[in-house]
Amino acid sequence: MSAEAAKFLNSFAQSLSTMSLYSQGHPARERVIDSAYAYLRRLQETDLTPQFSFLGLNVIYGEVALRELKEWDWGLRLANAGIQRLEFAASVDRTEFEAFLDDVLARLTQGSGDSATQSPERQSSIRFGAVGVRGSAGLVRAVEDKETSTYQYSLSEEADTMRWLHDEVQTTGELPLMEAESVVRSLSLAMHGDRDIVIPLLQLKEFDQYTTTHSLNVSVLAMALGEFIGLGSTDVRAFGVAGLLHDLGKVRIPKEVLTKPGKLTDSEWTIMRRHPMDGARIIFESDRQLDLASAVAYEHHIMINGNGYPERRFRRECHKASRLVHVCDVYDALRTNRPYREAWEAERVLANIESGAGTEFDAELATSFIQMMRQWERRVAVVDDQSPLPAPLA
Ligand SMILES: [Fe+2]
Ligand SMILES: [Fe+2]
Repeated sequence: MSAEAAKFLNSFAQSLSTMSLYSQGHPARERVIDSAYAYLRRLQETDLTPQFSFLGLNVIYGEVALRELKEWDWGLRLANAGIQRLEFAASVDRTEFEAFLDDVLARLTQGSGDSATQSPERQSSIRFGAVGVRGSAGLVRAVEDKETSTYQYSLSEEADTMRWLHDEVQTTGELPLMEAESVVRSLSLAMHGDRDIVIPLLQLKEFDQYTTTHSLNVSVLAMALGEFIGLGSTDVRAFGVAGLLHDLGKVRIPKEVLTKPGKLTDSEWTIMRRHPMDGARIIFESDRQLDLASAVAYEHHIMINGNGYPERRFRRECHKASRLVHVCDVYDALRTNRPYREAWEAERVLANIESGAGTEFDAELATSFIQMMRQWERRVAVVDDQSPLPAPLA
């Protein structure tokens, strides 16, 4: 029976992450809801009124901790959003179930706020809310000290969405803004699933997937650094979008040049150097609200001493977001295996950033980045875009 419960919860979590990416009525969204609902009904064949508690990294089904979900981080995410207890009545229909998922997603996206202290929500036949609904204080004590720092999730939905987004820009020339923003929202959720921040970085599997993987990583690093230097959540999110889209202009670079193993010729370099201008233009023409992302796309290869590209006739200081993304960009590029060189060790990259502080990089931001990576070293989780990996680096 606990296996059925674990299957349901996995499917429930899958629905939430998919729903954050697709709008109402989208087939992908309908499919995951159908599937989670089917798992719930199957569980109810043996347990008419299933109850769950999310306590630390433990998921309690009825009175039993689900070992199958030992490293499942959704329990923490839900608990942090004020949903520590979940109870289903015997009769839950599909519409009700979807409304419930929407509600949970809204809480996850908005953060916990005051919801943790609210009385349990009543959604006709589904109840959820803070622990204490049925006096589970004993349970809380029993599991509290067993917490460990392990994470388990994949970023496959996000990677798929980015691949699709790049194809879309390539074929239509237009940027699907909603999807870009939902990827950033979803990355931000993954970063805050635990009590402390997690920095999930994707590992490159295929060389031609570099731009996708790199965009997601730069977005995550830009949000982490923004948070580290104390920016507010609106700015952090805007920096995340800017990080995600900084290399968008690369959709205009022929694949042979983009994935060429070995050094580029002068004329290939000229093509490569066009991507900041192309990216800035695509973003700017898609949405005027994205002028920050557009500026970052334009400026992310300009060094603090004015070198780099594109060439400008009038030199002025780049936007802070561009200077910040520049550091994150170089970090991720050097940490990745490329056809023409091996990935560098993290320490070597940090030393390189340190030596470039004040010439290539904004000195203050470079110092903050190094501090952040040292301080949050154990919070960096290397994940792949296919299967979930348990991954904090020891
Ligand atoms: Fe770039
Ligand atoms: Fe880049």
